[in-house]
Amino acid sequence: MQATQARGSDAHSADAKLFQPTRIGCIDIANRVVMAPLTRCRADEPAGDVPGSDINVEYYRQRSGAGLIISEGTQISPVGKGYMATPGIYSEAQVEGWRRITDTVHAAGSKMLAQIWHVGRITHPALTGGAQPIAPSAIAPRDVVAYTHQGKVDIPTPQAMSVQQIADVVAQFRQAAANALRAGFDGVEIHGANGYLIDQFLRDGANRRDDAYGGSVAARCRLALEIVDAVAAEIGAARVGIRLSPLTPFNDLADSDPQRTFDHLVEQLDARGIAFVHFIEGSTGGARDLPGFDYAKARKSFRGAYIANNGYDRAMAIEAVESGRADAVAFGRAFLANPDLVQRLRVGAPLNAPDAQTFYTPGAAGYTDYPTLDAQPAVA
Ligand SMILES: Cc1cc2nc3c(=O)[nH]c(=O)nc-3n(C[C@H](O)[C@H](O)[C@H](O)COP(=O)(O)O)c2cc1C
Repeated sequence: MQATQARGSDAHSADAKLFQPTRIGCIDIANRVVMAPLTRCRADEPAGDVPGSDINVEYYRQRSGAGLIISEGTQISPVGKGYMATPGIYSEAQVEGWRRITDTVHAAGSKMLAQIWHVGRITHPALTGGAQPIAPSAIAPRDVVAYTHQGKVDIPTPQAMSVQQIADVVAQFRQAAANALRAGFDGVEIHGANGYLIDQFLRDGANRRDDAYGGSVAARCRLALEIVDAVAAEIGAARVGIRLSPLTPFNDLADSDPQRTFDHLVEQLDARGIAFVHFIEGSTGGARDLPGFDYAKARKSFRGAYIANNGYDRAMAIEAVESGRADAVAFGRAFLANPDLVQRLRVGAPLNAPDAQTFYTPGAAGYTDYPTLDAQPAVA
């Protein structure tokens, strides 16, 4: 009797809304499990930060059980790069490389967005081809280092961006979105999270400007909204989303009043009718229960899809979608370590543990060699 009940409840879980199709913006997805953006530092670097090598294609192919894959952070320009061997989306070779990946993901039945990214002050001239990092204000992040081919180096004080430099970055985001569609992506996620350029403008810990891009909440949100508008004008709002992390302290960023800042931003995003907002709830990869922001309120005041992330397990994800708290749930480390994550979640199978030693190292180890359930010895 007990066994029957257990099977019954498993069957119920496998039927959960998390595993049912839905639509995000104009993109139909087979289930509501999203692969979160994951930087893996395995692009072809001497050749110009080009993705699309055989192992890159294989890595994403293995994970195409996801209803939606969000690519690793992908810089919109050489100066927007903050780590070794991250891919770009500003050259023709990069567009062609991504095309190999998106074709493979589509053939396997999934959908894919490009996460378009500018790191702002979180970089070093050794990574940007010699260019000085740019940011809203000339404030260096404390206790953040850059990893270069010469080893670990201190991050220099960035140059405060001129209004012309801001306009150039908006144009580069727009061009990146156009390139993403040419590369076969179904749309883009604008990286507005984790202390990178857009977030540096949003939160007052890094933005001390007193012009149209700093000071008031509306002014701090201006760059994010100009980028959203430019990208939406290029590819249509139904293919555009943005990732936000109002509370994460990652990359030495904080805001004096996150609720007020992000209330305004979410209201403005709603007015623009974009496809989704993707919230990192709490501290990225860490505590979820930080005070200072009400995600349920954001969910209610935004009519597009709400993608939830950070520290979700199977039960939390099923509950979040079943209760309507989220439309979809993004998994980062669990997807990194479990190519067949969706199948495992469906049946309640155990998960491989991620190996942090190989998150950012070159080659197949810790990248394409995590075992699937089928490849594992049968459990007695
Ligand atoms: C190796 C690694 C690389 C990451 N790269 C990115 C990235 O490129 N863009 C981004 O927005 N978040 C990035 N993140 C954050 C994840 O997308 C995610 O927010 C975080 O891991 C928390 O989700 P999880 O608990 O499901 O892992 C990265 C995380 C890890 C572990």
